Amino acid sequence: MKLKFNSNKTALIRVDFNVPMHNSKILDLNRVHAAIPTIQYCLNNKMSVVLMSHFGRPIKKNTEFSLKKLLKPLSEILNKKVLFHSDLKKDISTKNIPLQNNEVILLENLRFYSGEVNNDINFAKQLAKYGDIYINDAFAASHREHASISAVKQFFSNSKKFKGLLLSHELEQLKKLSTLNSPYTIVVGGSKIGSKIHILKNFINTADYILIGGGMSFPFIKFNGGKIGSSLCNDSEVKIVKDIYNDFKNSSTKLILPVDCVTTTDLIRKTDIKICNIKNISRSSMGVDIGPKTIQLFKSYINKSKTIMWNGPMGVSEFDEFSNGTKNIATSIVEATQKDAYSLIGGGDTVSEISKFGLKAKFSYVSTGGGAMLEYFKHNQLKTTNDLLEIIS
Ligand code: 3PG
Repeated sequence: MKLKFNSNKTALIRVDFNVPMHNSKILDLNRVHAAIPTIQYCLNNKMSVVLMSHFGRPIKKNTEFSLKKLLKPLSEILNKKVLFHSDLKKDISTKNIPLQNNEVILLENLRFYSGEVNNDINFAKQLAKYGDIYINDAFAASHREHASISAVKQFFSNSKKFKGLLLSHELEQLKKLSTLNSPYTIVVGGSKIGSKIHILKNFINTADYILIGGGMSFPFIKFNGGKIGSSLCNDSEVKIVKDIYNDFKNSSTKLILPVDCVTTTDLIRKTDIKICNIKNISRSSMGVDIGPKTIQLFKSYINKSKTIMWNGPMGVSEFDEFSNGTKNIATSIVEATQKDAYSLIGGGDTVSEISKFGLKAKFSYVSTGGGAMLEYFKHNQLKTTNDLLEIIS
C-alpha cells in the first residue's frame, strides 16, 4: 500500500537518535543521517513531521540526555528550522507552536517519562495525538516493547501505520542472511551487558564460534573463578552466564573468551596502564581493552570465518589509549571480508568506532542496530514491526 499523503497532515515518526556520546559530546551522527530519507520523503510530500526518540538510559529528566542537543545538527542536515517540544504531557498546540505545512518538530527524550519503557497505554495515547499517521523508522530500538514502538500503534488504524525507509531496508538486508555460510563467527562486546548477554542463546548451534570481548567478557571470567578487580560486572549477569553454559554444554557452538587484557587503576586519569592475564586483575584495576594475546586469538577465528557478525567494542574505545583491541578486530574483519567472508556490523558505538577508523565502507553491511540486529536472528523477524505497512510498495 502506498502512503496517502495529505498536506496539513502530520507524520509521527519514531526514529533512533540514540547517538554515541562521550563527556557530553556527541561522537557521531550516523543514526541521524540514517533517518533523513524518511523525514525528507514526508516533507517532499508536503507533510509536517514530529520526531520522537530515546537518548541514553535516563530514568528521569536529566539535561545531559536532552534531545535539544540534536536540534542544531538536525537543522543543519535538513537545512531547515527544527522546533522542539519539551513537555510530553502536553499537546503541541498548548505550547502555541501549532504545526503548519512542512514543519519539523523534535520531541524531548521519551525516556524522561517512565511510561515509555513501561509501554504505558496512557503515555502512548498522548504520543499518538502528535500525528495523523505513525511511522516506525527506529530499527535499532525495535526489539524493545516500549510505548513509542509498541503501545502507540493501537491508536492508529491499520492503514495509518508504516515502516520507515530505514526500517524496511534493514529488515530486507537481514532477511537476505537467512542462510549463513560456515564457519560463522559472532563477535560481541560493549558495556550493555545486562540487556545483551541473554541474546547469546539465540545463536546456539547456529554460530560456530562466539568471541566474547569488552565488558561482556567479565561476567564469564568471574563465573570461571577469575579475579576481575573493579571491571564492569554485576551478580545477576554472572547468574545468566551459568544458564548460558548449561545451554551451550551440548551444542556445537564454542564460546571463546579473552586471555589477557589492558587494565588501568583510573579510567579518566589513565593511571598505571598494564597488560595482564584476564583472570588475574588486581583489586584496584579494571579491564578496559583486550590484550595482544586475545587479539591474536580472536583474529585466528575471524580469519577462517565465512560469515562474521560483530556488535560491541572490545574495550572503552572512546579513549584512544583503550581502542587498540577494537581497531585490530575491525581491521581483521575487513581483511576477512576482502577474502570473501560476509561481514555484518551493527550498533551505535561499534558503527561510531569503525567510522572513526575510516573503515565503515569496508564491511559487507553496516546496520544501525546492535541489540536489534542480534535479536532479529532469534526468529528472523522483529515482532513489533510485523503489522506495519511499507511506505512504498
Ligand atoms: C541501541 O543503541 O542499541 C538502541 O538505541 C537501543 O537502546 P537501549 O539498549 O538503551 O534500549
